[in-house]
Amino acid sequence: MSGMKIAVSGKGGVGKTTVAAGIILGLAESGRPVFAVDADPDANLGFALGFPEDELARLRPMVEMDDLVREKMGDGALFRINPRVDDILDAFSLESGNIRLLRMGGVKQAGTACYCRENAFLERLMGALLIERDEVVVLDMSAGIEHLTRGTARGVDVMLVVVEPSQASLRTARVTETLARDLGVADVRFIANKVRNHEERAVLEAHFGAGELLGFVPFSDELWDAAMFTSDGRGTSGTIGTIARSLLANICTRLVGKEVVGPHEGGIREAREVRGLPAV
Ligand SMILES: Nc1ncnc2c1ncn2[C@@H]1O[C@H](COP(=O)(O)OP(=O)(O)O)[C@@H](O)[C@H]1O
Ligand SMILES: [Mg+2]
Repeated sequence: MSGMKIAVSGKGGVGKTTVAAGIILGLAESGRPVFAVDADPDANLGFALGFPEDELARLRPMVEMDDLVREKMGDGALFRINPRVDDILDAFSLESGNIRLLRMGGVKQAGTACYCRENAFLERLMGALLIERDEVVVLDMSAGIEHLTRGTARGVDVMLVVVEPSQASLRTARVTETLARDLGVADVRFIANKVRNHEERAVLEAHFGAGELLGFVPFSDELWDAAMFTSDGRGTSGTIGTIARSLLANICTRLVGKEVVGPHEGGIREAREVRGLPAV
């Protein structure tokens, strides 16, 4: 059976990449092959995951590979509808253990030139990842969720919207939630990050309904220092990703141990029933 498809979203700076990296490493460690997809044009998921700098420098965003885009989508005014893209998902990703890293590049905004071909190509790649692949897929998104479309959003099992203790991040989270549900994302949950004390925790708890919040991630000086003061994102107990992985251990267990199905369908169900994932 197919692995869970997880999209991580939220306001800029709340910790999407950090949370995504922690979840990716946690799931990979439990033996699952994971596709780590950097869908933020300002890509830094690979850095957080601890991929070597020289390899990351060579990893080009898919959308910028003009020849490949034309080869797959066709050269003319009409695009091919569903070209096979499996080969390029494998060929143009970096591999490290159970993790494959892919850089999407940004969705092109309508402007003077027509970028329809590039965007159709991105949508095709997202469809292949979310609907056709068997691996667990974790998408690290930008603040917007423009990489998802009506066609591809239905492949997302759960969108994790990261919030921090600020009203602005809570507002963005609710806007994101509405957009995601409108597109057809099956389930939207929230993760509270950078929580410093009980007061902050209480404010966040009061904002969300039962079952909406998947968990709290404490503010971590070590994480902050690793990102702030070291050029390789390495703190005393590991990389940004491995530090995040230990902070997110409970959330990972909840994600893989339970299938989150939305309040209207009876709450949380065992993942094994739904997806055939091994027990954790
Ligand atoms: N739980 C945390 N504790 C301390 N610092 C954090 C935590 N989560 C994220 N950060 C820091 O916040 C900054 C933004 O995080 P990042 O994951 O890049 O956010 P985003 O991807 O949402 O823009 C980074 O410097 C990161 O190290
Ligand atoms: Mg980011």
